[in-house]
Amino acid sequence: MQISTLLSILRLLTFVFAVPVDKRSPTSLKYHTLDFDVVDMTPSSKRSETETIYRRTLYYFARVSIGSTKQQIGVSVDTGSSDLWFPSNDATCTNGVNCKSIGTFTPSISSTFHNLSTSVDNNYNDGNGAQGYWSKDDFWFTDGTKVEQIQFGLMTSSGRETGVLGLGAPDLEATNDKYPNFPATLKNAGIIDKTAYSLYLNSATASSGSVVFGAIDKAKYNGDLAVLDFADYRWTAITLGSVTAPDGSKVDLNIPVALDSGTTYIQLETNTARQIYQALGLSESGSASCDQLSLDTNQLTLNFAGVSITIPYKSLFYQFSGGSLCQARIYGSSGGNNFFGDLFLQNAYVAYNLDSKKIGLAQANYNDATNLVDFWF
Ligand SMILES: *[C@@H]1O[C@H](CO)[C@@H](O)[C@H](O)[C@H]1NC(C)=O
Repeated sequence: MQISTLLSILRLLTFVFAVPVDKRSPTSLKYHTLDFDVVDMTPSSKRSETETIYRRTLYYFARVSIGSTKQQIGVSVDTGSSDLWFPSNDATCTNGVNCKSIGTFTPSISSTFHNLSTSVDNNYNDGNGAQGYWSKDDFWFTDGTKVEQIQFGLMTSSGRETGVLGLGAPDLEATNDKYPNFPATLKNAGIIDKTAYSLYLNSATASSGSVVFGAIDKAKYNGDLAVLDFADYRWTAITLGSVTAPDGSKVDLNIPVALDSGTTYIQLETNTARQIYQALGLSESGSASCDQLSLDTNQLTLNFAGVSITIPYKSLFYQFSGGSLCQARIYGSSGGNNFFGDLFLQNAYVAYNLDSKKIGLAQANYNDATNLVDFWF
């Protein structure tokens, strides 16, 4: 047999064997990926290292296309709120921010736009909100998939730098009567089978991440995905059992923590933050001399039912210039709510199932591979 014939047979065999493999791949899996960019929006006035707490403000920007002419608008992906909104072309910016730099929507040039004519007022914990009218129009994924008539707030006034894509539970919608928000509309349209999505915020230094609607990416985490019940559905919160310091000392907490991509770092109720500072040997304000911390090797361990997530000290602490003082990026708030923001989510892979009211959680594994599977919980 000639070599070339043998090669053709081998090639044919490969082809024949490839068919069942293809069939095993989840052709029926319904999912859609929304990529986002990580952008540093820290106002230049706050970049000064003389600030007592250096708070960088990273935004996780997805570009959405809306309306018959596919107008592109940047919105910040927020698992801690539940409405989609963005400014209209003639919006007034308040609060001294440029609310229109990441894109606006011009309703007059979209033939599919509908004004629901009811007012919307979105307020956030930081006090900066946006007001306008509820509207509907078609939404386009980058691959050309259309989702008809998604509801959003078209804002005539905004005190925020960006619009928001809220992915949370309907309970947090800024309406009295709840409506199908973005994830629910994808399900109702048959684009996904469950009101469920997975968040891969990626590492602290990455410039992009993604949300996969309708699927879980097994390549993006280490070990098994622990499945937890919501401690508080409204806030998509789970129970934090305890934290373990590098010296092994443990603080029992059993508190609900909201997994919120819209929060910078980690915000905890004041007393809880203090308890953790103490366990880590920090001052009452959460700082310490960097020399004492072993930044390169130590980590904070957060214990949940069935899984622990670690945060390396390198990202947990901000090191002031000169290098002597380090400040923990866990800050206390008197509000009583606990938000595990981007500092936590950069280290975790989180799969939210709003239908079964369960969350899958594992340590993030940073890489470019994908292995998508259906939600199994
Ligand atoms: C939507 O309806 C409200 C209430 O009638 C109106 O004030 C507003 O100008 C309308 N907006 C657009 C873009 O049509």
